[in-house]
Amino acid sequence: MGRPPLNRRLAEFGTTIFAEMSALALSTGSINLGQGFPDTDGPEEIREAAVRALREGKGNQYPPGPGIPELRTAVADHQRERYGLSWDPDREVLVTAGATEAIAAALLALLEPGDEVIALEPYYDSYAACIAMAGGTRVPVTLRPDGGAYRLDLDELRAAVTGRTRLLLLNTPHNPTGTVLGREELTAIAELACERDLLVVTDEVYEHLVFDGEHLPLAAFPGMRERTVTIGSAGKTFSFTGWKVGWVTGPPELVTAVRSAKQYLTYVSAGPFQYAVAEALRLPRSYFDGLRDDLRAKRDLLGDGLAKAGFTVYRPAGTYFITTDIRPLGFDDGFAFCRALPERCGVVAIPNAVFYDHREEGAPFVRFAFCKRTEVLAEAAERLGCLREG
Ligand SMILES: Cc1ncc(COP(=O)(O)O)c(C=O)c1O
Repeated sequence: MGRPPLNRRLAEFGTTIFAEMSALALSTGSINLGQGFPDTDGPEEIREAAVRALREGKGNQYPPGPGIPELRTAVADHQRERYGLSWDPDREVLVTAGATEAIAAALLALLEPGDEVIALEPYYDSYAACIAMAGGTRVPVTLRPDGGAYRLDLDELRAAVTGRTRLLLLNTPHNPTGTVLGREELTAIAELACERDLLVVTDEVYEHLVFDGEHLPLAAFPGMRERTVTIGSAGKTFSFTGWKVGWVTGPPELVTAVRSAKQYLTYVSAGPFQYAVAEALRLPRSYFDGLRDDLRAKRDLLGDGLAKAGFTVYRPAGTYFITTDIRPLGFDDGFAFCRALPERCGVVAIPNAVFYDHREEGAPFVRFAFCKRTEVLAEAAERLGCLREG
């Protein structure tokens, strides 16, 4: 075979680091704080709602292409109640196979080959692959540590826009840094998008995991409703990451465009789970507050443990990831550090460099997930103490 099986667009995307690290966790019996999935399931009544839907034959056959009306209405009601955004469930909401498909469909639909996409680096790994599949060119704008948190340099963002820029791909709350973009930053982003006539795809899957401050959806800023595709997901909010129920909201022209791509990816997915998620979105406020408070306590437990072990800790304002700097421990290569950590301490983490185009910018940073049971986090913190002992 003269030509490699994998095409040129995807050649740089081999196996993800998550597969390598999860295998290492298994072979060494380590605590896996690499991949971001909870180690307990979400609310029992929501699991029961899925069982009920299966038994009652709801969603066992192809559901409607845009998603079941109950879920589209629940998404619209949720956004109105939370953020004062009003979406027509029939024309402005689309259900997808998780946020992952929403990202892929949005980029495949909205990009022409050669279009530039500005993304905040470090970024969630599917962004780069999806931009590549769509034939786009990614233009990273790097978030940098500044006073205990990662910040966006708005001048750098403005300077990254060229005549070829088609869209901004945002993520707030931001994985892996935990940064939550504030009013001032979002206002500036909105002004820039309007001034340069850019589309925005904003990944807000961690909207309910904000510990300090509040989540502000970009679509609610002046001029943004008509140019923004907002992506949500049930996975993080309801701790059912395997169900893969996500959604897109936006103006009819953009949602229709995304649907055009989505219908040829999965067409539909997760029939019975869509009914369960429609119920989940109607859970009382106390559920969402409880989830946030529980994760805030876990952030602090693991954050304190990491600080005690000698890491510099960037305490996240949102998401369920903590980014750390390993240099105070005498290391500067996150890859080597993460490959050695399971043998050394029995804990698995992810090197942030995998989320960068400018790998050197991410080299000394390592990410830990804290969406695990308290006793697991306490044990991980204890094990990481071995780094202090050298
Ligand atoms: C920023 C971000 N977007 C999207 C996803 C994927 O969401 P889903 O599981 O709904 O496809 C993740 C999962 O880790 C994520 O961190």
